[in-house]
Amino acid sequence: MTNNPNSIEAQKANKISRRDVLKTAGVGGVGILLGASGFGGLMSITESKATSKTEKEIVPFYGKHQSGITTKAQNHIYFVSLDVTTSKKEDLIKLFKDWTKASGLMTEGKTVGELSSNEFLPPKDTGEAAGLSPSNLTITFGVGPSLFVKNNQDRFGLKQKQPKELVDLPKFPLDALEEVWTGGDLCIQACADDLQVAFHAIRNLIRIARGKAILRWAQTGFQRSKQADSKNETPRNLFGFKDGTINPDVNSEKEMNEIVWVQPGDGPNWLVNGSYLVVRRIQMFIEVWDRTLLKEQENTFGRQRESGAPLGQKNEFDKPDFNHKDENGQDHIPADSHFRLSRGDGTQKILRRGFSYSDGMDVKTGALDAGLLFVGFQRTPSKQFIPIQTRLANMDKLNEYISHRGSAIFACLPGTKQGGFIGETLFN
Ligand code: HEM
Repeated sequence: MTNNPNSIEAQKANKISRRDVLKTAGVGGVGILLGASGFGGLMSITESKATSKTEKEIVPFYGKHQSGITTKAQNHIYFVSLDVTTSKKEDLIKLFKDWTKASGLMTEGKTVGELSSNEFLPPKDTGEAAGLSPSNLTITFGVGPSLFVKNNQDRFGLKQKQPKELVDLPKFPLDALEEVWTGGDLCIQACADDLQVAFHAIRNLIRIARGKAILRWAQTGFQRSKQADSKNETPRNLFGFKDGTINPDVNSEKEMNEIVWVQPGDGPNWLVNGSYLVVRRIQMFIEVWDRTLLKEQENTFGRQRESGAPLGQKNEFDKPDFNHKDENGQDHIPADSHFRLSRGDGTQKILRRGFSYSDGMDVKTGALDAGLLFVGFQRTPSKQFIPIQTRLANMDKLNEYISHRGSAIFACLPGTKQGGFIGETLFN
């Protein structure tokens, strides 16, 4: 799904895969695992079958753009925001070089180092993804406004390079943002079809950052798995509605260049082929929703719950008729319904790539803390997310049932080729 030109074969050369390690390991826990299962003799047969399946589960890390943006959404997301603790630019550069190398390996299902080479040192790779498939892992890096200037300080001599678009989002009406889910100098978005694979990636990247950056906030998310939805229909959100019906076409280079990728002339050149990521942690009051009449629920989104069709139409992808009135002379699709309001005049578009989240109980209210980790990619936030969210915050019918509790904006760096590193255009 990405535009990445590099072949998987080329990237595979001279690297030890997690599977290879499993196959050859004679020491440590992995060896014991194999021994205990007693499948040694079957290994060569299962290996050859597994290899082709594994190849299909690799999303190339290197390329013109970072992966994880136009990549078809995987089953899980592990999103983290970090604060940089070092004051040295060289440390930052080293961090991005190390992150790039580790990410290139992990997205191919490899370990970041040999599983256990020296018993007197902690293993380089933490090990929990050993033997697991790459699971379409993508790792996407971004830089926040505070990396450039924090407390009026030009921290790394990057002030001149800060894009005009990379500034804190304005405060929207009804925002209930909490510090614990807001802002950050850097972000990493790891998405995979297996949560343990995504966790392993984030954990190892944080480990590599030791002494240079620390976690600020983290959020996992999910959507119905591909296994559970063999028909590959539009996923449903936690309010039971199809969510993701209308989205730009990630297979159209033209649309992606218009809507998602920063173009030459847009702003600083270092961000060309990158994108702006807006993340919002939006709690959904599902207990309230569950007591709401179906008609009211459908009026809230402007779509039918079962089919996902615009009100007044039959099928999910039917064109809405905004002029249609009901028997009382009211707009069939209410003007303050979520999808009608989000669309506006149709000129502001954004690539939505959100996931549901569920974080146990909200201790303040005793309700479930569940909702949407909204992730939206775009070329120009001031012309895309900001005007859309301004409209929604002012009059979206959905506001009765949701609360924006976290928020951040990041510039997702352009991609890099093998041998280069993510961030090279910014730091060089
Ligand atoms: C918990 C919060 C939200 C929920 C549950 C939600 C749910 C939905 C649903 C069910 C649809 C209709 C189906 C579809 O086309 O996907 C939709 C459409 C849309 N939403 Fe949201 N949404 C939320 C927040 C947001 C936010 C914060 C934004 C951006 C600022 C946004 C932007 C859009 C856009 C652009 C569309 C497509 C409009 C069109 O038809 O052209 N949504 N959303």
